[in-house]
Amino acid sequence: MLEQFMRDVDTGLSASFKHLSSKYFYDDIGSQIFQKIMAMPEYYLTNSEYEILSLQAKQIAEKVNFKVPFNIIELGAGDGYKTIRLLKNLKGLGLNFTYIPVDISKKAIDILSAKVADEIPDVKLEPYVGDYFKLLINLPNSIPSLVLFLGSNIGNFKDEDARSFLSLIQSHLKPNDKLLIGFDLKKNPITIKNAYDDPHEITKAFNMNLLHRINKELGANFNLNKFDFYCHYNPITGEVRSYLVSLEKQDVFIQSLEKTFSFDVNELIWTELSKKFDFIEIEALAVNSGYKLEHHFLDSKNYFTDSLWSK
Ligand code: AVI
Repeated sequence: MLEQFMRDVDTGLSASFKHLSSKYFYDDIGSQIFQKIMAMPEYYLTNSEYEILSLQAKQIAEKVNFKVPFNIIELGAGDGYKTIRLLKNLKGLGLNFTYIPVDISKKAIDILSAKVADEIPDVKLEPYVGDYFKLLINLPNSIPSLVLFLGSNIGNFKDEDARSFLSLIQSHLKPNDKLLIGFDLKKNPITIKNAYDDPHEITKAFNMNLLHRINKELGANFNLNKFDFYCHYNPITGEVRSYLVSLEKQDVFIQSLEKTFSFDVNELIWTELSKKFDFIEIEALAVNSGYKLEHHFLDSKNYFTDSLWSK
């Protein structure tokens, strides 16, 4: 883990256009900041998806249409806020399923499992800490699965990475399995911009934490006062891009890499892509990664879709 982090930081900060991956946002502090982001009124994504999962569980169950006991496998299970709502409703419809949350963080899985056991004790729970694909390979063939990849996580992948990730999942699914995947939709650009360029500067803290993490884990001497946060939304491409900006010409030493990195004044480090989609792009992504798009479950404002795909 640490070696990979070191390698990625080294590659990213040595590139002519500097970049760091947003997958490294989520240490314990970063995960707490993300909880705060999800609670901001500007970050409409959480409420939109919550509305879909709480009001349309019956319609989702009808389209999934499993007649036998099945698995609900959640990839990168978060804090459970939205999923528990869905599971409660599915249970209320009398469906027989086992919930398998998957995450590489044991801490995240332990917290979520305790919450599920507490709030919906009658749901069968088989948490899994580790790699998504290892879990999918080892599942018995006899039980169909509904795989959940919620919360617009796919928007953090570059186009070609999204396609290869979804194709890899597809290759691990059994013929009747289904995928329910969250996409944030293109909408009024001002609404999108405000969700990321937030007035509380929580998203700024989320990005800055990456430098703090490099200081802590790799023994670097980033001075956080000498960096700022910038993001912009391009309504044509649907991309929110987030950056850290070096406020002066400066050198930063990273102990574990035994290397100094130089930053120009106003030089950028690209930290995150948060892509917004239209229906044509979603359909193309489904088809190009080997799925059939079955249905879009939209919220009342048409801000977000949980899209149901079959193999
Ligand atoms: C986790 N992911 C879908 C979030 C997003 O909207 O791209 C992460 C995030 N970045 C800034 N705010 C939220």
